Amino acid sequence: MKNTIIKTELMCKSFISDGEVNNVIKNMDLEIYEGDFTVIMGSSGSGKSTLLYSISGMDEISTGKVYFDGQNISNLKEKHLSRLRKEKLGFVFQGINLIPNLTVYENILSPTYKLKFDKKDTDNRINYLLEKMDLTTQRKKFPNQMSGGQKQRVAICRALINNPKVLFADEPTGSLNSSQGQSVLNIFTDIHKEGQSLVMVTHDLKAAIRGNRIIYLKDGRIDGDLRLEEYEEATYQEREETVYKFLKDKGW
Ligand SMILES: Nc1ncnc2c1ncn2[C@@H]1O[C@H](COP(=O)(O)OP(=O)(O)OP(=O)(O)O)[C@@H](O)[C@H]1O
Ligand SMILES: [Mg+2]
Repeated sequence: MKNTIIKTELMCKSFISDGEVNNVIKNMDLEIYEGDFTVIMGSSGSGKSTLLYSISGMDEISTGKVYFDGQNISNLKEKHLSRLRKEKLGFVFQGINLIPNLTVYENILSPTYKLKFDKKDTDNRINYLLEKMDLTTQRKKFPNQMSGGQKQRVAICRALINNPKVLFADEPTGSLNSSQGQSVLNIFTDIHKEGQSLVMVTHDLKAAIRGNRIIYLKDGRIDGDLRLEEYEEATYQEREETVYKFLKDKGW
């Protein structure tokens, strides 16, 4: 049995703009399991990013409940949410948002500034992550001296510095070329194999196939939930066909 790491109950998220209510996430009951690499797909505007922000304490939900690791986080004040994010969660976005005037090393260190992390342990962790991401020789560089793929790998190191319970990624390969994207996905596959829980939004079939579960969103509701565990032994092509068929059935 897998542990539930995130659970929502009748979760709704609405936005009000120009006096009109836009119900984006509708009465959602969802469980995300520890150790899974969960992928969220769906057409543009279906609410993927909104869902990701709602379940990760990045944004307040409108009604319903969200539990993270057993704790009800639905009504937490921003101060507590911010602490939860810093201590237990990691985030990677499409637009790589490194701090331009900090080096690679300093960027990765930056989330720990206000946390009481042991200095030596943190240094060891950064060295470990840099090596893993093939960035050891880049530690003193500034973001503008690096390629898109390298920068995204730095952003992943930064997201992993606190050993997050869950790594959230919103279209992490969206601004990368194909080979850079593949290297980012290889890292995700590696850390997933090591036990890291991941939740990733993507438009890309090649990215989706890395997950072991694909949730399909349609108009703010879950319209499909494909588990890929039973295809673990299957060839890449078989997995790809399975995912493709699932998505095609959903009108992707
Ligand atoms: N901060 C916001 N204020 C008002 N409306 C918003 C806000 N964020 C999202 N929305 C609306 O919510 C809906 C879903 O947006 P969301 O960004 O979650 O879609 P998405 O599935 O991630 O799309 P894409 O694939 O294009 O990134 C859209 O109609 C959008 O206009
Ligand atoms: Mg989005």
